[in-house]
Amino acid sequence: MIGGGGREHALAWKLAASPRVSEVLVAPGNAGTATEPRCRNVAMAAEDVAGLLHLAQAEGVGFTVVGPEGPLAAGVVDAFTAAKLRVFGPTQAAAQIEASKAFTKDFLARHRIPTAQYRVFTEIEPALAYVAQRGAPIVIKADGLAAGKGVVVAETVAEAQDAIRAMLGGGMGQAGARVVIEDFLAGEEASYIVVASGTRYVPLASAQDHKRVFDHDQGPNTGGMGAYSPAPVVTPEVDARARAEVIEPTLRALAAEGRPFTGFLYAGLMIAPDGSPSVVEFNARLGDPETQPILMRLDSDLLDLLEAAVAGDPTRAPPRWKPQAALGVVMAAAGSPGAIRKNDPISGLGADLGNRAKVFHAGTSLRDGQVLTSGGRVLCVCGLGADVGAAQAAAYAALSGIRWEGAHYRTDIGYRAVSRENAT
Ligand code: AMP
Ligand code: GLY
Repeated sequence: MIGGGGREHALAWKLAASPRVSEVLVAPGNAGTATEPRCRNVAMAAEDVAGLLHLAQAEGVGFTVVGPEGPLAAGVVDAFTAAKLRVFGPTQAAAQIEASKAFTKDFLARHRIPTAQYRVFTEIEPALAYVAQRGAPIVIKADGLAAGKGVVVAETVAEAQDAIRAMLGGGMGQAGARVVIEDFLAGEEASYIVVASGTRYVPLASAQDHKRVFDHDQGPNTGGMGAYSPAPVVTPEVDARARAEVIEPTLRALAAEGRPFTGFLYAGLMIAPDGSPSVVEFNARLGDPETQPILMRLDSDLLDLLEAAVAGDPTRAPPRWKPQAALGVVMAAAGSPGAIRKNDPISGLGADLGNRAKVFHAGTSLRDGQVLTSGGRVLCVCGLGADVGAAQAAAYAALSGIRWEGAHYRTDIGYRAVSRENAT
């Protein structure tokens, strides 16, 4: 398992549950994977492609799963495949679908896959003029990888122009050297993720993320403050349209352009009030924190599914889902998503949560048996329940005993689904 966040803890936990897995090596992992049964951390950076290759060969690793986008963009899958090692994830060429927003927007336009109208800029003045002419609300995006922080949904032209000056003015380094400016899309978002192998694929359970840092979707965007599955906005009709209008044409086009996609393909969709999906973003990996609630619900063997995909056909091992809903609440460190404080001791992690809740670690480290904070998103506390409301109650109950100085989290994860449930 390559990576060390919450998504990777959940993946390692689920892979370790396969009867065919003897041990999961996690590089670099976190305090959660350090203590997970049948998991072992290896101190190696997720981007160290040469080191990872050497590790996999030296340890006789039978199957590798890549969690984050960094090593994918660095070509870890190409390197492993060239060395005849089995690995699940897209090639560097296929992972471009996430690494460059300008590439993705041009790709979507070329293949007539629905997405917001846009323009790409490298110079400040024409970008300012475009925004002045187009009006607000409008969305400004840094082209490159920015850990979920390169997007400003501007309510006013002035706010949009400030974002343009910050990004094209060099404030984000290379990631902001090009910006995409696109129309604001109204609707409700869903994370629609499939396991793909070329043009064959199986969808995972639907999910919805909460990107803003504060309750009621206030404050800046983050990588995600909580998520739940299933997402009721993905009705059977929306599901059919997402497959036919987004997933299938995207996989066909990637294959036709010579970059067939094997891996988790994540479509961030905006579902308009009439049910039509538009692509907000693609990721070449699972979502974090969507993975944690999605995998809480997975009732079949994850290794079987990923191996079938690497062998060319994930439909040969389709996933089965628990009927319950799952919901995860991210607990974040003091200062996050800005300048974060690290090394705060975390208390209350020892509670027995049974089968109805699970704490996935993200930015944690272990020192002398004490778990410390080491990143912005520290934990994702997940609950399982008969519906999203019950899963929400289970998650917040599990979270209530966990503490560290400056910890913060949203108290309203799942509110859209819960209000739908309460209305019926
Ligand atoms: P992205 O990194 O492109 O997924 O953008 C991060 C977040 O910004 C998305 O999850 C949306 O909440 C919001 N966003 C991005 N693009 C748009 C858009 N065109 N219209 C409305 N909201 C958007
Ligand atoms: N939670 C959104 C993402 O992983 O990109």
